[in-house]
Formats: sequence, C-alpha cells, structure tokens
Amino acid sequence: MARQQKFHIAVIPGDGIGMEVISEGIRVLDVLAQRSRGALAFEWESFSWGCQYYLQTGRMMAADGLEQLKHSDAIYFGAVGWPGVPDHVSLWGLRLAICQGFDQYANIRPVRLLPGTQSPLRAATEEMMDWVVVRENSEGEYAGIGGRNLQGRGERKEVAIQSSLFTAEGCERIMRFAFELARTRKRKKVTSVTKSNAQQYGMVLWDEVFARVARDYPEVETEQWLVDAMAARFVLRPETLEVVVASNLFADILSDLGSALAGSLGIAASANLNPERRYPSMFEPVHGSAPDIAGQGVANPIGALWSAVLMLEHLGLSDEATRLMAAIEATTRAGIVTPDLGGHYTTREVGDAVIAHL
Ligand code: NAI
Ligand code: MG
Repeated sequence: MARQQKFHIAVIPGDGIGMEVISEGIRVLDVLAQRSRGALAFEWESFSWGCQYYLQTGRMMAADGLEQLKHSDAIYFGAVGWPGVPDHVSLWGLRLAICQGFDQYANIRPVRLLPGTQSPLRAATEEMMDWVVVRENSEGEYAGIGGRNLQGRGERKEVAIQSSLFTAEGCERIMRFAFELARTRKRKKVTSVTKSNAQQYGMVLWDEVFARVARDYPEVETEQWLVDAMAARFVLRPETLEVVVASNLFADILSDLGSALAGSLGIAASANLNPERRYPSMFEPVHGSAPDIAGQGVANPIGALWSAVLMLEHLGLSDEATRLMAAIEATTRAGIVTPDLGGHYTTREVGDAVIAHL
C-alpha cells in the first residue's frame, strides 16, 4: 500500500451557523478519508475562537493565534460575528487577522448553478451560470488604513478617514493569479473590474498593471468593465463571464450578488489562498454566522462542503475533490436541500445525503 497522506487541518468554526456547517464538513471529509482505505487521513485541531471567546477574554483569538495556526496544512473556517460584539471587531480580530497575517491575497469565489437548484434569473441554465470571482484579499479598500479624530471638537464634529491602498505589486500578483486560472478554464478570458473614471489614483494604477500583465498572456482574452456596469452585467449577461478579477471591496459585493444569482448565499464557497504556500490557506463558506437561523439545524451546509472541495484541490487531492463535488451535485439534483433552496431538509440530513452519494 502507498504511504498514508496525513493532513493537519486547523478548524475554526466561529459563531452561529459556522459551527453547524463546519461539523458537517468534518464528518463528510472523515468519511472520504475512511473510504480511502488508509491512503488519506485528516487530523483536526479545533480552535474555539470567536465572539464567545471575545466576551470571555477580550480577544477574538489567542494572542499567539497565528503562531498556533502556522504549521497546519490548511485552515477550515466557519463564520464570525454575533450580536453584542461589533462586526468590525469580530471581523478584524479573527478572519482579517488571519487573511492578512498569512498573506492570503487571493480570494477565490466560484459562482455556479448547481443541478436541481433555481436561480432568481428566469432564463438561467447551468451552462450560463459558471464563473469565478478572483478577489484581491490583502489591500485595496480593506487595507485598514485611516483613523478617527477631532472628538475634542464636540458632538457631531468628529471626522473619519478610510483610505484605499493599491500597490503595483499587489495588483500584479492577483492579476497573474487570475490569468493563470483563466488558462485552466474552458473559455480563456479575464475581465478586470475597475472604477478608474472616479478613482483616478488607485484604480488607474490597477488598470495599468492589468494591461501590463495581460501582455504576458496573449492567448487569454481580456476586458475591462466599470463596477457599476458589471453589477448589471452579472444579472443581464451572466453567460459572458469567465474569470472576473476585482479589488477587495468590489469583489466582495459582486461575489455576494453572484451567489444570490446562483440560488443562495448558503451554497457559496471560497478559498483564501497564499499561492506561494509560505503560509496555510483558509477555506470558508462565503456566508456569515446567520444569527436569524442559528441553532435551528436548517443552515445550508453546501457552502462549507464546497469550500472543503476547494481545500481538497489545494491539498493536491483532486480525485477526492471531484468525488465530493459530484456527491454535492447528486444531493442537490435529488432535491435534498435546506429551506433557503426551497427544500425541507435539515443541515444534518443534507450532510447524510452527501455522504450517501460519495
Ligand atoms: P449572513 O450571511 O450571516 O446572513 C445573511 C442571510 O442569509 C440571513 O438571512 C441568513 O439566514 C441567510 N444565510 C446565510 N447563510 C446561510 C446558510 N448557510 N443557509 C441558509 N441561510 C443562510 O450575513 P449577515 O446577516 O449580514 O451577517 C451576520 C453576521 O455574520 C454578522 O455579524 C456579520 O459580520 C457576520 N459575517 C461574517 C462573515 C465571515 O465570517 N466571513 C461574512 C459575512 C458576515
Ligand atoms: Mg461578503
């Protein structure tokens, strides 16, 4: 028998439905490992960081949290955020701390209509709805540069400054990533999202770098679109999209729109990659902690399971990734889906069905 491949995965379920969907992911991946007849094993190390931890300790994660995560092969993340802790505190204290600390600059968000599910777009078919949003995940509008001041002037006189950061290096590496990805796709095409008409510094640099990088990929078709027009195009002509590269804020918004068009935020998956593998990458559903449905056992686990597919691919387990994706599709095709997709099944029942289809 071939040597066993063992992966050490750090698990951060976080808050709310994060915990519910991640436990399904672990269950499904453990079954995949069992069925490998010893060829594959996952070693899970769970961290109970999140808003509960914050209320007890005043921190979203341990002070040496990044040090503790550093040696894992990947990080499997649920969601953070809970009423009682300001969202900017929970997001910056955990998820963004990891993304920035580990230089996970490429955030990959596939948009695809799964069989048996319905898009809010009347004419949508599986062929039409299949693209990837590549989000710059380390700088841009979420660089965290700015401050608040002038409180001393009295009530309602305060100012806040929030600046965007665009570096030539940051633009170039995310664009190269998008072009490399486009090379592996059916249609070789990259669309850059911009707003250089209004943002004459950062976005003009973004455009210039895009044009420069594009010259190294003559076989890849390119386009450049303004973000507002792009929002409309997601809805009106989704079949023209293939790889869409955008800044942190623009891609954040566009990818939520994309996942809504693909049926539900509950199925949307993402990878936060450090492509050079100097640090572990992190895999997480796009959705948040959904306090409105937390604890009811009805959260859609597919976003978390699809993120596990992206994790398997990153770990070089492409056969397992293909098997898991096929099991997810067989499950949705059979109509075994949670209420957000119009079904009546529970989180656990969807997990059971995916396992049965593996
Ligand atoms: P959300 O994604 O948690 O929920 C938005 C809506 O979608 C809710 O109605 C929710 O029930 C539904 N939904 C989300 N995921 C679902 C699933 N798997 N199955 C079925 N329905 C699902 O976004 P919201 O309400 O804006 O934020 C809630 C909290 O989550 C906030 O504290 C926010 O800061 C945090 N958040 C965290 C993120 C992360 O950790 N990456 C991302 C987005 C929000
Ligand atoms: Mg978002």
